[in-house]
Amino acid sequence: MTHETPALAAVIGWPVGHSKSPALHGYWLQKHGLRGHYIPIALRPENFEAGIRALPKLGFGGANITIPYKETVLHMASSVSDRASLIGAANTISFRPDGSIHADNTDGYGFIENLRQTVPDWDPRSGPALVVGAGGAAKAVVSALLTAGVPELRVANRTRARAQNLADTYGAKVVVVDWYHLSEAVSGAKTVANTTSLGMVGQPALNISLDAAPGDALVTDIVYAPLVTPLLEQARARGLRTVDGLGMLLHQAVPGFQHWFGIRPEVDEALRQYMLGLG
Ligand code: ATR
Repeated sequence: MTHETPALAAVIGWPVGHSKSPALHGYWLQKHGLRGHYIPIALRPENFEAGIRALPKLGFGGANITIPYKETVLHMASSVSDRASLIGAANTISFRPDGSIHADNTDGYGFIENLRQTVPDWDPRSGPALVVGAGGAAKAVVSALLTAGVPELRVANRTRARAQNLADTYGAKVVVVDWYHLSEAVSGAKTVANTTSLGMVGQPALNISLDAAPGDALVTDIVYAPLVTPLLEQARARGLRTVDGLGMLLHQAVPGFQHWFGIRPEVDEALRQYMLGLG
């Protein structure tokens, strides 16, 4: 008999029932024959801090953090990765042996890795990028694109002040473009990314024309329901390369899984099909 519990990890949010992370990590655990568990834990705001502090004592190696705690959790961390600190939010925490918390944000990593693996010859350094939106997801995407070497980044957001705020964080490489001139801002953009919820099931489509995009532009959406958003449909009709948003969700989970369960899992077509089958 052993006193060691199997490796444990969780996704923490309020609510958390919608999260696809337990199915995703469960798929990898089973595929690799690992003795571990990944469970959803819904923590009410008044229980959040005590709940997180209890996890390492219960044997958890870490957790993914989702709405509404991605910013709050930073206040509890004793160390924060550069990318999480720049974005001002964490989606992944790991516990050190003394129970202290290291916070990271893997959303931008997931975004870039999805593009790199789906379109291996995509080169972020080849020209400007246009990012639509200025919320939490946009922060991660902008930060990751700049780190990947995008020479100029254009940001457009319905609420201009938020785009301006985002641009101010990064300096001259990031320029704010007018929401009503989105279609013009596409001109010369080698990468176009929607980070808003526009185009999601039940939401209006993003109102943009890709007519001015260069023929070798790559168009991507962080929305993955539907898999092919109106933006991606338009891009395909124009013969542009497209990458859907499902891969970002899958890739952002890789660093946490590797850390907690000791194996670097793959994102492949079988996994995509499994996740799509969940509905
Ligand atoms: P997330 O963390 O998913 O990015 P968020 O921080 O709430 O969520 O950001 C949502 C983004 O979608 C914002 O850029 C938001 O624009 P505003 O800053 O103007 O609110 C954008 N968004 C959501 N609904 C929108 C709509 N109907 N039209 C235009 N932009 C929308």
